[in-house]
Amino acid sequence: MSPLSGKRILLGVGGGIAAYKTPELARRLRDAGATVRVVMTRAATAFITPLTLQTTSANPVHTELLDPAAEAGMGHIELARWADVVLIAPATADLMARLTMGMANDLLTTLCLATPAPLCLAPAMNHVMWAAPATIANRDLLLSRGVRLFGPAEGKQACGEVGVGRMEEPSDLVQALEVLFTPQRFAGRQVLVTAGPTREAIDPVRFLSNRSSGKMGYAIASAAAAMGAQVTLVTGPTALPTPRGVTRIEVVSAQEMQDAVLKRIETCEIFIACAAVADYRPIATAPHKIKKKGESPMTLVLERTEDILATVNALPHRPFTVGFAAETEQLEANALDKLHRKGVDMVAANWVGGDIGFESDDNALQVYWMGGQRDLPRAQKPELAYSLLEIVAERFQAKDTQVSTDSRTHKI
Ligand code: PMT
Repeated sequence: MSPLSGKRILLGVGGGIAAYKTPELARRLRDAGATVRVVMTRAATAFITPLTLQTTSANPVHTELLDPAAEAGMGHIELARWADVVLIAPATADLMARLTMGMANDLLTTLCLATPAPLCLAPAMNHVMWAAPATIANRDLLLSRGVRLFGPAEGKQACGEVGVGRMEEPSDLVQALEVLFTPQRFAGRQVLVTAGPTREAIDPVRFLSNRSSGKMGYAIASAAAAMGAQVTLVTGPTALPTPRGVTRIEVVSAQEMQDAVLKRIETCEIFIACAAVADYRPIATAPHKIKKKGESPMTLVLERTEDILATVNALPHRPFTVGFAAETEQLEANALDKLHRKGVDMVAANWVGGDIGFESDDNALQVYWMGGQRDLPRAQKPELAYSLLEIVAERFQAKDTQVSTDSRTHKI
């Protein structure tokens, strides 16, 4: 289940150009299962209309401190008590300064004073304003009071200049909030995840590959990072952004993926093989584009690639290993076969070939380990990733406890 499921998020929108990203932010928070209520400063309404945010948040938008429509005319108190967390995005230099001073001269600053909920800011401003001594002093004071800052990011700014001051992307802000509500089950653990397809070159312009989009593996990497792990993601070619807090290693072929995994496996405690790695590759890659030759059929000779998961599993000091099984028939039998034959700690099996599994935003998993099984019904991949990692955390802990008990028994 997503850590934001059922959470009440008060989204404060400040008056900066980055406000145009907040309808997407509200939608993504709702997709993650949160209820969103929006408060806008007057300046924010110059950049984006309350109606847009009302539509994407599915709740009325609040702009006025004294609201005759609110219970007892005390909208700020009601909103302040309602929220599980307050996120201000974009947090302008002016808003940060007013929060530092404890001012209560509009609805948003007033409810920030009145709320017991954690306060998170996503600053966005020109890079010179962000580096100004006054802003630095305000930032440090807010941090010392326990306010959390998400960003700002570096890059091209609305004014055309380049520097630190861009608001974090909506997807990154959602991940940052997820961390806030996620028990740190993997705190300090090293997790290595493979994701996406591999490409096996036929000639310089053609390759063999498969339909993996990388969505499942990226969701796992993102959730593991939110649960406190140091995550390395070894990924085949995808169009997906790197999840927040994750180290991304890009590879193309099965051989490159194997090399990248083996180079990092020694320090890894949990290995999750979600990539759809090619089982076969052309025995040779043609140096030039292969030309058509009349009407006669063409034969492509393939050889086996090495099984990365099996290689990792055969290491003398192997990590806790989680394999996937992508099946179009006999899901349970094939998953159990992989569990026993490959000797992995867990197998997450999914149906592929229909409207879930490959490419789609949804998936469903049947998870197997020695002596146990659990079904994770159809859900969006990010949500499923959390459910899967809860099971991984349980099994990893059980194995860890078993190993330390065994070694104690040995010593005695
Ligand atoms: O990327 P998406 O579009 O989100 O789709 C997700 C997914 C369907 C790709 C994913 O959920 C999944 O099932 N991944 C594993 C796909 C696969 O290759 O399954 P398999 O049954 O062929 O392989 C079994 C296991 O061995 C897998 O963990 C695989 O990573 C691993 N393997 C396979 C071949 C190989 N040469 N090396 C490997 O490590």
